[in-house]
Amino acid sequence: MNAESFYEHLVRPVLFSLSPEGAHNVAIRNLRIASNWPAALLQLERFKPPPKPTTAFGLTFPNPIGLAAGFDKNGVAIPAWAALGFGFIEVGTVTAKPQPGNPKPRIFRYPEQQALINRLGFNNDGADVVAARLRSLRENGRWPSIPVGINLGKSKVTPLDQAVDDYLYSFRLLAPLADYVVLNVSSPNTPGLRSLQEHDALEQLLRAIRRENEIARKPVLLKIAPDLSLTELEQIIATSEQHGIAGIIATNTTLDHSAIPKSLDQTGGLSGRPLREKSTEFVRAIRALSQLPIIASGGIFDAASAREKLEAGSQLLQLYTGYVYRGPGLLREIAGAV
Ligand SMILES: Cc1cc2nc3c(=O)[nH]c(=O)nc-3n(C[C@H](O)[C@H](O)[C@H](O)COP(=O)(O)O)c2cc1C
Repeated sequence: MNAESFYEHLVRPVLFSLSPEGAHNVAIRNLRIASNWPAALLQLERFKPPPKPTTAFGLTFPNPIGLAAGFDKNGVAIPAWAALGFGFIEVGTVTAKPQPGNPKPRIFRYPEQQALINRLGFNNDGADVVAARLRSLRENGRWPSIPVGINLGKSKVTPLDQAVDDYLYSFRLLAPLADYVVLNVSSPNTPGLRSLQEHDALEQLLRAIRRENEIARKPVLLKIAPDLSLTELEQIIATSEQHGIAGIIATNTTLDHSAIPKSLDQTGGLSGRPLREKSTEFVRAIRALSQLPIIASGGIFDAASAREKLEAGSQLLQLYTGYVYRGPGLLREIAGAV
């Protein structure tokens, strides 16, 4: 049985019989166990696509397809993602302080629209615990051969005017352990977070991180929302270029829920198929403004949507919702077509 049928006929029906967050937890728990079990990793490698190496911001990727932030928020299954064949993985979002996130339920499935809405609110173990986990992976020789990024956000309890210090705390701990770092200023589920995309706040954050990065010297990327105006986008790109940002991740989830019937709508960020066009538009707009490397994220579900993102000007791709619906076969399909 190939990867696609195995997932779509056996795994997905079981996972989709659970709540979206329950299914997520089962998947993560199993991949966490597999990560500590060499025989299981070998089994996962059966899904691995043939290599298609590429380079961006000074790193080499065995293929251009990564796991997007939010899937493995705490970095508990890194060896398993590598075994499954991802070209890179992004751990996080991690915040300076551990936090439980919003009350459940907080992930909602829309199979007809091939979408998800989530309002998790950065539930994560916090920077200290994640740093210890990554350090032990490195020290035990289990660090994977693929680039591992760390996505950083602001702790909910930290007031917005202290956001810079909050990011700096996590950056100091985690940047030395990561291959690249992402400043996430675009989740819709932490009140006020997106206002860090505004000019003065962004400049302050980027200036402080650049100063701090003189020691670690890691590529720092910025992850942006798809709900910005073109003027806002232009300003963000200009500020990013001025302050040494190595690349842009376009995009996070959207607040535009027009694809979801009103009666089923939920508060949160929408991901998946309905985000495809908007996020591609953003990739194209960024490429028209700048030569910064772009990681495209949003509605990649098949070879055509992956190719569309690369043709729009991105170098790398990230999967989340498409992987939930289609599983490891999606990675093989895309890797074979790009
Ligand atoms: C359940 C869920 C949790 C997410 N958590 C995060 C997160 O912690 N940090 C982040 O930067 N993006 C997060 N995202 C956004 C994804 O990384 C991705 O950018 C977005 O979903 C668009 O890609 P997709 O359409 O392939 O899902 C999350 C998305 C989902 C569906």
